[in-house]
Amino acid sequence: MVWTVDDIPSQEERVALVTGANSGLGLATARAMSARGATVIMACRCRRKAETARTQLLEAGLTGLDLLDLDLADLNSVRRAAAEVSDRYGHLDLLFNNAGVMAPPRQLTVQGHELQLGVNHLGHMALTLQLLPLMQGRNDARVVTVTSGAQYFGRIRWDDPSWAQGYDRYGAYSQSKLANVMFALELEARQQEQGGGIRSLAAHPGLARTDLQPTAIASGGNRLEAVAYRLMDPLFQSAAMGALPQLHAATAATAQGGEHYGPDQLGGMRGHPTRCRIAPAALDREQRQRLWQLSEELAGGLLMP
Ligand SMILES: NC(=O)c1ccc[n+]([C@@H]2O[C@H](COP(=O)([O-])OP(=O)(O)OC[C@H]3O[C@@H](n4cnc5c(N)ncnc54)[C@H](OP(=O)(O)O)[C@@H]3O)[C@@H](O)[C@H]2O)c1
Repeated sequence: MVWTVDDIPSQEERVALVTGANSGLGLATARAMSARGATVIMACRCRRKAETARTQLLEAGLTGLDLLDLDLADLNSVRRAAAEVSDRYGHLDLLFNNAGVMAPPRQLTVQGHELQLGVNHLGHMALTLQLLPLMQGRNDARVVTVTSGAQYFGRIRWDDPSWAQGYDRYGAYSQSKLANVMFALELEARQQEQGGGIRSLAAHPGLARTDLQPTAIASGGNRLEAVAYRLMDPLFQSAAMGALPQLHAATAATAQGGEHYGPDQLGGMRGHPTRCRIAPAALDREQRQRLWQLSEELAGGLLMP
């Protein structure tokens, strides 16, 4: 039996925040959660794109869609967004750490971190830690962090996480996606130790047709890369299919904290959600704790509320 959006239980009375909800997997996630009755906070960095996406969902007859300004490349914006959620709702049931950037030329966040490490990992870690108090005590509260098959190739550059030397666009992406799954698992371990009651899971979409790859190709300016993606194109599934693993992790009654979901076919490239392998580095508690500490040092007090 395959799992589809029709298996999402009712989300009436639940508030879900989706980062990067204006595009790709985030938009598909917002659509599916709203269709099942959730109030969805669409957290986006560009107000114009967010409004266009919300209008598209409203025109499809969906409701309960709220917009929130969030730039994950600025930890002060993250702080303002978390405070805004607290003011507007006072609680949160589900957090989808979905937004992401892949393989740009080397750029830095407002706080001076390499963009992919900053947006994909540090921004989401800060957002999560600042929203956790709003999730405490909620029934079946979950945080789902979106990673990638790139986690399997990832390595944390402990001495140079922002790639001051020898920047590699895809190496930096893989590092950030490994950091995503390491954070998801460490959050789960800490919640269990503290009896926090919030579950943390990871999910990856396989290969999904979204803005991620075209943006990477456009910014890379590399013809070989463009050809490689064109050859791989038949393998890509829709954004709606790619969003299923994160929707499953967030809503399936059987999904447990610390689990990782991805597509079930072609080595995890496409298909319906199933439990999948976690990169070995993320299974190593010592490395996870080291990453947590490094992240705290990098964010310099901006991780916590
Ligand atoms: N598509 C795939 O095949 C694939 C494979 C593995 C993993 N993933 C992961 O899936 C997630 C979703 O990506 P996608 O495929 O849906 O790509 P997408 O269509 O490009 O969507 C990415 C979203 O992230 C947002 N974003 C980028 N930088 C941001 C920032 N500084 N602050 C806030 N939001 C920001 C983008 O906003 P703008 O529209 O304003 O740029 C967009 O809404 C990512 O974490 C990605 O790593 C995707």
